[in-house]
Amino acid sequence: MEGIFEELNQQQKQAVYEESSRICVIAGPGCGKTKTLVSRIIYLLSSQKAQPRNILVLTFAKKAIKEIKKRVFSHLSDISPRELHIHNFHSFCFRILNRHAHLLGFPENKFPVYDRHEQETVIRKLLYQENYNTEKKEINTIISCIKYLKTNQALDFNDLLLYTIKLFNYHSPVREEYQRQFTHILLDEFQDINAIQ
Ligand SMILES: Nc1ncnc2c1ncn2[C@@H]1O[C@H](COP(=O)(O)OP(=O)(O)O)[C@@H](O)[C@H]1O
Ligand SMILES: [Mg+2]
Repeated sequence: MEGIFEELNQQQKQAVYEESSRICVIAGPGCGKTKTLVSRIIYLLSSQKAQPRNILVLTFAKKAIKEIKKRVFSHLSDISPRELHIHNFHSFCFRILNRHAHLLGFPENKFPVYDRHEQETVIRKLLYQENYNTEKKEINTIISCIKYLKTNQALDFNDLLLYTIKLFNYHSPVREEYQRQFTHILLDEFQDINAIQ
């Protein structure tokens, strides 16, 4: 375990051990930012400064999540992967919204998100049902597609982020619950995030 901290250079060590609650690491690709982030997670957990459930790690790509998990769990075998929250923004928002769906007027545990492929499937299915061939029918079909998505309160991926903000803004007890739980939030690939995220 000690080995992973010895490998770090001076600046990386500074970021890993920093006591301040807000730190930002800026460096070019391949300079060891993810390694620093992973080392900080391992440091926080092994020094009992945080429990696994208090740490939230957010990044973008599924590949990056897999990589971070692999690196963390290769050093901390006694932590169950289920305990540590490592997500991308959309999957994290989806979990939150699914859990509090009723507060936003959605059916519980059945949060309706349609990705691009599912949107296409709905449209194809309805086009087929309507047996479309004339211009008029085409318009009717499109109208019924919109109605279908509306009736099912369908959300797309961008809506996941917007609805989470709405949830946190209108339901402060929910926001406070997450604020209490996640005392340490670590973001990888920070340069790629936008204001909403
Ligand atoms: N201090 C270090 N000593 C040895 N290898 C390092 C060090 N910092 C990073 N690396 C290695 O460099 C590679 C890139 O590191 P990574 O953390 O993925 O960079 P970044 O996230 O900045 O793109 C990895 O293989 C990592 O293990
Ligand atoms: Mg990286």
